[in-house]
Amino acid sequence: MSLPTSPTPPIVLRLGLALGLAAAVALAASCCAEEPVPDARPAARAAWTPVPAEELAPAEAEAVAAARAAKKELAGRLVGRLTEVLSQQGPAAAIEVCHLDAPRITGAVAEEQGLRLGRTSHRLRNPMNAPPPWAEPWVAERHDQPLVLRGPDGRLGILDPIPLQPLCVTCHGPQESIPTEVAERLAALYPEDRATGFRPGDLRGWFWMETRAEEGTEG
Ligand code: HEC
Repeated sequence: MSLPTSPTPPIVLRLGLALGLAAAVALAASCCAEEPVPDARPAARAAWTPVPAEELAPAEAEAVAAARAAKKELAGRLVGRLTEVLSQQGPAAAIEVCHLDAPRITGAVAEEQGLRLGRTSHRLRNPMNAPPPWAEPWVAERHDQPLVLRGPDGRLGILDPIPLQPLCVTCHGPQESIPTEVAERLAALYPEDRATGFRPGDLRGWFWMETRAEEGTEG
């Protein structure tokens, strides 16, 4: 970059400033005169507000406990299946567990427990695991504490962080900790994979749960 060798004449500077200002005013006027584009999402998000544990109604506290029990069930089944396949068939085969079994196990737990739930991340491997709309802002800001939100119709949204464990680095760690075979399989299945480079203790993502409308409103 080269700097001007002679100082800019003050008159030119003032003219430039005035023109710039006029342009800015015109821009502001044109922007605000237009009809705002309707976007329901901020409203939908605002409708989901955080609730401290002590402010939950008894029925809500029960629903939250049930949702967290469902999450525990899901986490246990996933890690159980993962550990089994890892030890018996190795990491490349275990990718199939995460790829095929994780969505199946998640669906089964959701149905058994009567709620919606899933896993999500700010750095997704599978774009299908995008967060539900109410969780989006918290995921974007990497909120790393357990959270309960109250939504419309008395529904409750729960977002609980998942820290990375040493077991996870084979498939989510820095490149050097991922075996070649695993890296190739991941690249083939997930061309947009953003879920590597994590170290134990890092925030890997969240479990999210959403209760049914009637659960939060009754009682
Ligand atoms: C054998 C490889 C493997 C191991 C080990 C593994 N994962 Fe994954 N992980 C995957 C695959 C593959 C997916 C994509 C699953 C899908 O398609 O829904 C995934 C998805 C996820 C997701 C969902 C969000 C996303 O990015 O799509 C989370 C959260 C996650 N893993 C956390 C963990 C944690 C925590 C551990 C350790 C306890 C772990 N994973 C161990 C392969 C693995």
